[in-house]
Amino acid sequence: MHHPPEFHDRMLSLGLGRVSEAAAIASARLVGRGDEKAADEAAVNAMRDQLNKLEIRGIVVIGEGERDEAPMLYIGEEVGDGTGPEVDIALDPLEGTTLTAKDMPNALTVIAMGPRGTMLHAPDVYMDKLAIGPGYRPGVVTMDMSPAERVSALAAAQGCSTSDITVCALERPRHEEMIAEIRETGAAIRLITDGDVAGVMHCAEPHITGIDMYMGSGGAPEGVLAAAALKCMGGQMFGRLTFRNEDEKARARKAGITNFDRVYTRDDMVTGPVIFAATGVTDGSLLPGIKREPGFVTTETILMRSKTGSVRRMTYRNPV
Ligand code: FBP
Repeated sequence: MHHPPEFHDRMLSLGLGRVSEAAAIASARLVGRGDEKAADEAAVNAMRDQLNKLEIRGIVVIGEGERDEAPMLYIGEEVGDGTGPEVDIALDPLEGTTLTAKDMPNALTVIAMGPRGTMLHAPDVYMDKLAIGPGYRPGVVTMDMSPAERVSALAAAQGCSTSDITVCALERPRHEEMIAEIRETGAAIRLITDGDVAGVMHCAEPHITGIDMYMGSGGAPEGVLAAAALKCMGGQMFGRLTFRNEDEKARARKAGITNFDRVYTRDDMVTGPVIFAATGVTDGSLLPGIKREPGFVTTETILMRSKTGSVRRMTYRNPV
């Protein structure tokens, strides 16, 4: 009987770093050019080319959209060279297309990989998200708490005042009430215009980023990518899908989801070992962005494995 090779995450993670680097380098010339679509396309093409060189039998679980919407890296596309272990891939070749087009902070290329069947097939709907960094007892904050209760609970756990807490959230009209309630507690809010994968990741390194907690709704696919990152970095995360209409519910059903009220924990979204790579496109709190000089492009990539909790940072100076 044929047994597919095991998921050797140590070696595969280095290959995954090259995949995210390639996407970033391809989008380099489009930073600040006002063309979101071109930047995304460049990143998608490069990510796919590089991914197809890896010795994996991969299936895109989180990708650019449904097959009829996205020509490449769509959900269900088979990637890799067709040898090696069977894996699930979650990717966002350019997380923050608008950030890239406007040369604003925290645009990243992002990819995660785990053994087949270990990642939530999240439909392209919104997800209500809550995340904190490592070192807290399980359930110190929950989805059932109000935003103010979460701030108070986190402050109590830290032994500090609510005014010492900083929450990160997407600046969106749908978050106005939540933001007002957080402000009532005296907590600070770091509002971001886009990029909630980075927003969630910021919680894992509060001493560097100054962010203690992430909350609010954003893309569900980005939620799975953020869960993969936190599984490597440490920290708690919860997500609940939200639906605006029947079409979005149908998308969820198609992805195999039957319980629409379920709260997913980090480890429900990513149930097995995972490797994660992200490369900075524009400067951010976690990663510097692409640097260009005549003849060269330099990138910085963060590469992580959940099995060991190891975090590697790689600088790559690439002749162009
Ligand atoms: P894109 O890179 O696809 O533009 O997504 C950016 C993003 O900000 C995500 O990080 C976030 O999850 C989502 O968009 C939020 O969606 P919306 O802009 O509809 O609030």
